[in-house]
Amino acid sequence: MKLLLTGGAGYIGSACLRWLLKHGHDPIAFDDLSEGNPPSVPSDRLVVGDILDTNALTEALKKHRAEAVMHFAALAIVPDSVKDPDNYYRVNVIGTKSVLDAMRRAEVPRIVFSSTCATYGNRAEMPLTETTPQDPEHPYGTTKLAAERLIKDYAAAYGLGYAILRYFNAAGADPDGTYGEDRRHETHLIPLTLQAAAGLRPKLTVFGTDWPTRDGTCVRDYIHTEDLADAHQKAVEAIGPGDGRIYNVGSGHGATVLEVIRACEEVVGRPIPRDLAGRRPGDPPELVASPEKIASELGWSPRYTDIRAIVETAWRWLESHPDGYGPKPSRH
Ligand SMILES: NC(=O)c1ccc[n+]([C@@H]2O[C@H](COP(=O)([O-])OP(=O)(O)OC[C@H]3O[C@@H](n4cnc5c(N)ncnc54)[C@H](O)[C@@H]3O)[C@@H](O)[C@H]2O)c1
Repeated sequence: MKLLLTGGAGYIGSACLRWLLKHGHDPIAFDDLSEGNPPSVPSDRLVVGDILDTNALTEALKKHRAEAVMHFAALAIVPDSVKDPDNYYRVNVIGTKSVLDAMRRAEVPRIVFSSTCATYGNRAEMPLTETTPQDPEHPYGTTKLAAERLIKDYAAAYGLGYAILRYFNAAGADPDGTYGEDRRHETHLIPLTLQAAAGLRPKLTVFGTDWPTRDGTCVRDYIHTEDLADAHQKAVEAIGPGDGRIYNVGSGHGATVLEVIRACEEVVGRPIPRDLAGRRPGDPPELVASPEKIASELGWSPRYTDIRAIVETAWRWLESHPDGYGPKPSRH
């Protein structure tokens, strides 16, 4: 299938692009490089552009003769979304509308959208299923929920096929350590912990040790990027004309912050310096997926079911690339 991946030079988008290439598809990335890393995808498969530029996106879709879009491009840092909702609504909501409008103009019939468990907000019942009510706690989650609704409305009116994938916590690196996570401003637990282990930052801060969980720290469901990529491939291949599908993509198992740190210590073979701090407002104590629907409908199941195996891939990447992909392109 010929595919265009918005945000395809980002962490998850580029992992999907490399996976799709390996599995016989023909993907290109469309990315403004605000966070993306050009070395993470083959240079002849990268179109630099902004999803808000509907004309440029339409052009890229037509030129590649795209049969499907995977829409990863977004701003995705929760505290930034609280400080600057304007930018988050612009890129995540108006940007999604621009993607859908470009698809209509270029007559692209299907989309896979990167949504998030953050759309559920703070729920008491675990695990989360696709029918759990959605009530996001912050503008990032709200913009992702708004984008989900936009896609459903466009699909109903204009006959688009879609799959909405609600990811849990994406983690890990390509198994051979060649490609991995490299952001301007890192906020994710595993890279922060491993950076502290490697001496690239003085220590890690654990936010909240008095949550009602088994050791007092937050529980999250970590899912390897290759398993996410596999879910994307299965989803895009399954979307029929006018089809609408929604899936949680998680392992079904939660790990606490302290369990993740312990797994990192086991992998690197030494203690990792940390600070204990108070709770961060808006952090749900627990987010764990029920992946049953995607398992039964698409035959998907995660290959990385052990947090240590995920951490091993991330550590292989960090050890061999302490500077990540190298200097970032300047912001525009
Ligand atoms: N990382 C996670 O754990 C996680 C969890 C749930 C959902 N998601 C979603 O998955 C998607 C990818 O996340 P990621 O972790 O790979 O983040 P990322 O920041 O690495 O990737 C996003 C990509 O989009 C690009 N981009 C941003 N604005 C753009 C614009 N206006 N035009 C074109 N490109 C633009 C960035 O340059 C970047 O390459 C996002 O939609 C995010 O909301 C991520």
